[in-house]
Amino acid sequence: MKLSDISGGPKAGEILCALRDIEDGKAMEFSYQAGDDLREIFVHRMGDEIFAYENSCPHAYLPLNMKAGLFTEKSGKYFMCQNHGALFDIKSGDCLAGPCNGQGLTPIEIDLTDGNIIAR
Ligand code: FES
Repeated sequence: MKLSDISGGPKAGEILCALRDIEDGKAMEFSYQAGDDLREIFVHRMGDEIFAYENSCPHAYLPLNMKAGLFTEKSGKYFMCQNHGALFDIKSGDCLAGPCNGQGLTPIEIDLTDGNIIAR
């Protein structure tokens, strides 16, 4: 899903933040409200790469993180849902273990251009 497809979200081409605004191994969260519909996404940084998903675990549709910007377990290799411990591949969003094994996070299409993270 493109970020600009989320109602209340940014238009394509809008800058969300700079890559340097996100600490390596951490994420930045963004929320968009349209009427009663609140959509939350997160953009996770791994070095010079970014991975963006809806912040909604496919098990019970709860946000994955309990601390701002922290979506991984201790090793930093997997996203972990803090609610029931599901583990997700960072690059694909696939659930690898836990109650939603075989399902996955909803990826959000964004761009990284000239050090800026941009809505697609
Ligand atoms: S809500 Fe994420 S594992 Fe249950």
